[in-house]
Amino acid sequence: MQEPSSSLIDNAANVLRNGGLVAFPTETVYGLGANASDPVAVRRIFEAKGRPADHPLIVHLHSPETLDFWAQDITDAVWRLAEQFWPGPLTLILKRRHAPLTVTGGQETVGLRVPNHPVALALLKAFNGGIAAPSANRFGKVSPTRAKHVRAELGDRVDLILEGGPCRMGVESTILSLAGDQPRLLRPGSISLSALQEVLGTEILTSTSASNIRAPGMLKSHYSPETRFELCPKDQLDRRGNELASSGLRTAVMFIGSAQKEQSEHKAFTPLFMPDVPADYARKLYAALRLLDNAEFDVLLAESPPDTEVWQAVNDRLKRASYKNEG
Ligand code: TXA
Ligand code: MG
Repeated sequence: MQEPSSSLIDNAANVLRNGGLVAFPTETVYGLGANASDPVAVRRIFEAKGRPADHPLIVHLHSPETLDFWAQDITDAVWRLAEQFWPGPLTLILKRRHAPLTVTGGQETVGLRVPNHPVALALLKAFNGGIAAPSANRFGKVSPTRAKHVRAELGDRVDLILEGGPCRMGVESTILSLAGDQPRLLRPGSISLSALQEVLGTEILTSTSASNIRAPGMLKSHYSPETRFELCPKDQLDRRGNELASSGLRTAVMFIGSAQKEQSEHKAFTPLFMPDVPADYARKLYAALRLLDNAEFDVLLAESPPDTEVWQAVNDRLKRASYKNEG
């Protein structure tokens, strides 16, 4: 992979200053960035994604130093979390200060994070301001974990795409709201609930029933592949795969680990073997879903991961990907 040169980074920062859109890599997924202080530029993000205007964007910062420009009521707990997890895959929802309402989807809260990727940090440094960025995919689709995914899906809707190789984490940041009476986990990610709890020292709510929170990452059917997608317990996977395939559907089955490799070689379905380490699985998940979409299967069947904390982010994304087929 060719890392962007410093002149390309300067060029990208200028595109942002002129109200343009720059797609850039982060450690989680690629983001579609605009100058967070320029409502006209931010509106272009919503157009390019086809995203409803009331769904808030995350503002990306170069360091926590400018937190109190964007947000207010910054408690010790916030600084502790920032110190421990930034730069990194944690988004904090705080009370809005100077974050424009266009960015926050009209809400009085703002999502902030410092990404941990050299290209993202170089861009933020050169731009010297906040970059509003959702994942660089069309609304409701699978997030991009490679520059070529962005090119394929958004192409000329973006002024510049910065190359940064495959994303290290592969699932979107953990989102923690500190804007309410009690901390609340809005989206699981690779930073676990217990890691956050340990730094906070208080209980974190996990129910997503709060009706005044608008987060597309919380829509049940978000993160969908195009192809029909089903989740299935390990012990029924073979039976279900055969059943789908013998009804004439071109079927792909995503196994966890390669233990079943030999038995599944002569099956009617196409087997795919995903890593059995949660972080490795997460890193590969979205690229696998895109590959399978492009391979024109009629149905993707995925083995349900164990219901344990280390699999929480993967479980969450798989459940959302399968939702439209189940309910
Ligand atoms: O890892 C990530 O978070 C990636 C990279 C690019 O940073 N970004 C990302 O953005 O996943 P997006 O827009 O696809 O998902 C961000 C989620 C959305 O569900 C959004 O609604 C929620 O964050 N969010 C942003 N601001 C919020 C706010 N003020 N209150 C509640 N939810 C918020
Ligand atoms: Mg997204």
